[in-house]
Amino acid sequence: MFARNLYFRKHMETVVSGIRSTGKLHLGNYYGAVKNFLAMQDSYNCYFFIADLHALTTHPTSAEMHQNVRQVVVEYLAAGIDPEKATIYVQSDVPEIIELYLYLNMNAYLGELERSASFKDKVRSHPDNVNAGLLTYPVLMASDILIHRATKVPVGKDQEQHLEMARTFGNRFNRLYNHDFFPEPYAFSSTEKLVKIPGLDGKGKMGKSEGEGNAIYLSDTPEVIRKKVMKALTDSGPTVEHQEKPDYIQNLFDLMKVVSSEDTIKHFDDLYNKCAIRYGDLKKQLAEDMILATEPIRSRINDISNDNDYLKKVVKLGAEKARESANRTISEVRELIGIKQF
Ligand code: TRP
Repeated sequence: MFARNLYFRKHMETVVSGIRSTGKLHLGNYYGAVKNFLAMQDSYNCYFFIADLHALTTHPTSAEMHQNVRQVVVEYLAAGIDPEKATIYVQSDVPEIIELYLYLNMNAYLGELERSASFKDKVRSHPDNVNAGLLTYPVLMASDILIHRATKVPVGKDQEQHLEMARTFGNRFNRLYNHDFFPEPYAFSSTEKLVKIPGLDGKGKMGKSEGEGNAIYLSDTPEVIRKKVMKALTDSGPTVEHQEKPDYIQNLFDLMKVVSSEDTIKHFDDLYNKCAIRYGDLKKQLAEDMILATEPIRSRINDISNDNDYLKKVVKLGAEKARESANRTISEVRELIGIKQF
């Protein structure tokens, strides 16, 4: 069912990105990150994996653990990540990553791990669960990247420090074993300019932590989308022609920019400037355009979610391809360290 094209991809630069398995994808994830992945899968040797081992730091139940991994696989496939082009796999299916994690841990120092901003944040927010896995999270992340000797890592700004640590650990290994083995990974975004996806609460960006009503999920039904959009904050409308839009109104226009046609946006913009806009109409239109834009993904989510055989094949193929690459790295690492077969 799947064509193997590893040979062809060998000549491309390697991209790795990990997706934490924290549940459903929203429009912000889709337009901000996943579309970026879609653009990369044709031109790079891409590894997109579900970071289920990273998720263990917060002790999910075994039922949650599996359900979350499954959900992410389903939604990424539905969004258009193509398992024939990119390698999609579950982190825990590639034990070579864990082995590399152990080796890198031997040269990761307490001081530098304690200084990581994300570790300090976690200590502050969960003082009762400061476990060693949390402390060495950056070492595991470095292993995820270095296991494929990747150079490009599509991640947001908040991961910049983790990437810097990955470069430090790779370089330290290279120096210790006197071998130019691991290349340096850097943050990467495809040429597409970053789009801003505000949430519906009129405040900041779309996100899960801001409450259920703030984000539109790819799996939301049309009724749910309509309800959430109609609840978005507006006011009684502009009173002076061409007056500046308040943030919460600009946010609705920004959302239109990703799902609506130029004509539609111009139509409402003109009405706004003439003080003749009715926000109810704008929200109705926005909801319908969101429904249209997400409809193909929504129906694929349902289809794929019901097709266990397909999911099994995708995950198995991904694990095979990922392990092929991981194995090449780990054999050389063992050799360099001096772990040799008799
Ligand atoms: N730490 C990343 C996040 O929180 C997820 C992640 C784990 C990752 N391993 C990775 C991202 C490797 C890129 C590459 O979003």
